[in-house]
Amino acid sequence: MNLIKKILLAQATVLALWAASAQATTDEDIAQRIKPVGEVCVQGQECANAPAPAAVADVADVADAGAAATASAGRSGDEIYSKYCTVCHGTGLMNAPKTGDSADWQARADAKGGLDGILKTAISGINAMPPKGTCSDCTDDELLGAIKSMSGL
Ligand code: HEC
Repeated sequence: MNLIKKILLAQATVLALWAASAQATTDEDIAQRIKPVGEVCVQGQECANAPAPAAVADVADVADAGAAATASAGRSGDEIYSKYCTVCHGTGLMNAPKTGDSADWQARADAKGGLDGILKTAISGINAMPPKGTCSDCTDDELLGAIKSMSGL
């Protein structure tokens, strides 16, 4: 084989390999383009098209951002109170300190070192008092506002 033929053969080989790999990418592209837009996943079976964990985290981030936005909008104490706390504190259900019963609230605050003390209990929950009084997305400030609003302190 002379040199010219060797060079031509080498070039032909490179060209053939390139063509084969170009075809492979094209097939993949086509598969990607014709795949269904949404797929139903059956519980208990592996979900072929499950979103990557990163995507799930993104969704959670967006939800967090939404919650943070709502929270930072700073709902008033009255607003939080009437939405979350009045059920129990309005009537003194299960011995909850009653709205407006400042003496009861004052005694509780004194026993815990002030409003910050009972705010801490409100956040953690105590006996029949659920954590954050069921307002799970409430900020500490919003809870404190609600406590002030119902205790009159
Ligand atoms: C499901 C009923 C219920 C709801 C809803 C509820 N509370 Fe209470 N809360 C209680 C009860 C019962 C107590 C008394 C607990 C005890 O001392 O045994 C209490 C006590 C408290 C105390 C006094 C804690 C202490 O250390 O003495 C604070 C502060 C308080 N609640 C805040 C709130 C706020 C703020 C909300 C609304 C965001 C709320 N609660 C919603 C039932 C409830």
